[in-house]
Amino acid sequence: MKNNRLIIISYRLPFSIQVQNKVTTVKPSSGGLVTAVKSLDLSASSQKPVWIGCADFTQRTWEKHRHEVNDDFEYVPVFLDKATNKHFYNGFANSVLWPLFHYFPSYVDYHDEDLAAYQTANQQVCEKVMELLQPNDLVWVHDYHFLALPQLIREQEPKATIGFFLHIPFPSNELLRLLPRRCRDYLLTGLLGADLIGFHTNDYLIHFLKSVQLNLGLPHTLAKIFNQDRAVQCQAFPIGINYGLYNDGYNQPEVIEERRALKESYPGKIIFSVDRLDYTKGVMQRLDALEAFLQAHPEWKGNLVFILVVIPSRDEIQTYWERKQMIEQAVGRINGKFATLTWVPIVYRYASLSFPQLLALYTACDVAMITPLRDGMNLVAKEFVASRQDQQGVLLLSELTGAANELGEALLVNPLDEYEVADQLNAGLTMAPEEQQRRIAIMQQRIAGYDVKQWANEFFESLLTARRGQEKSPVR
Ligand code: G6P
Repeated sequence: MKNNRLIIISYRLPFSIQVQNKVTTVKPSSGGLVTAVKSLDLSASSQKPVWIGCADFTQRTWEKHRHEVNDDFEYVPVFLDKATNKHFYNGFANSVLWPLFHYFPSYVDYHDEDLAAYQTANQQVCEKVMELLQPNDLVWVHDYHFLALPQLIREQEPKATIGFFLHIPFPSNELLRLLPRRCRDYLLTGLLGADLIGFHTNDYLIHFLKSVQLNLGLPHTLAKIFNQDRAVQCQAFPIGINYGLYNDGYNQPEVIEERRALKESYPGKIIFSVDRLDYTKGVMQRLDALEAFLQAHPEWKGNLVFILVVIPSRDEIQTYWERKQMIEQAVGRINGKFATLTWVPIVYRYASLSFPQLLALYTACDVAMITPLRDGMNLVAKEFVASRQDQQGVLLLSELTGAANELGEALLVNPLDEYEVADQLNAGLTMAPEEQQRRIAIMQQRIAGYDVKQWANEFFESLLTARRGQEKSPVR
């Protein structure tokens, strides 16, 4: 990796630049992908890595403010025109691929013009890559926004070294086959331009191999697809976190202060959850479970609080802004039903959290309630476990997340079964401190043993090996 420059491509750059009433704010972006790529250890590489992403600001704003985001990466924004971006991002990426890959087929809203914008956006990003690409560069394409990009780059530069990582689930072919044939073939063929394709779990990997076989008729082994003259390596790399950052955070002065303030405000038990606003996160079902719990366990009334933090996301898309209203109505209804004059069960916040606030909540809570209906991995679960330097606290985790594969010591639940979730919530709130410690300690060891640095290193090693294999013995 020492002699290789890294070119990262993701839809989102790790910051957004917003101009409102002539005031410009540079804000960090949220989501698992950005968190992971930002925490990579790049000290092994002698050249500054390039990060290409789509701009949510104009070229003029960029020229004025680029110095404010000067750090370990050289950022290269791609300026898509407004209509293309809308049909690409709100349309095909987030109203077709996102719901379909998360098993919400009824939320899919397919239009040919959105697919056309997806093709245009992938093409424009490819052009930017081609402007920058040098021999020995490692190209690392991220996520469902750019499924077509590996093949587009390959066509322009057959010798390029290209890795792709999917940060969301890859669904069973039963879901994929709902797309028009030309569309799914285009996506699968696009991906096969890579030398290495990474997924979070073996299940996603198997779904992909099966889809390629069923749709394109290409043979495969458990780890390789034979695509005419090339063998494409496919592998599971469960993404990790920057363990040290979260574990050390426990003793940061701002975190200690925020934690003290929280404990003072909420002397009873604290249940905590934080998610981007998204139907995949199961917030409505979580609220149903809380209601079932308060109904079944009146003894907890007045003795606990559920701090529900929802981070704004994709709010131009109907299914997202509708969800915000649904959540707010449910919070109001449940608080109205159970509150007394001196107590409310749910404290709801619709905003991003600062790092000290997030850490304080992770480390002050008694139960972290993380119950998505589907999630490629879910880094919040890992961050919570890592942050508990005191080895206390209970993780209540949906079995429908990628993280559940690695976190078997959590209280695992089916997020759709409100009675099971309510029951396990009670088990979490009453769990003995020694048992909490036993479970957290095992999970911490596992997460610390494969953090984001190892994840990336393993990916790069496999990518270089796949490339060397390509050069030595191309499949005939
Ligand atoms: C998920 C996706 C990322 C995405 C993030 C935030 O983690 O895998 O690709 O960046 O959500 O969503 P947004 O639409 O705001 O980029």
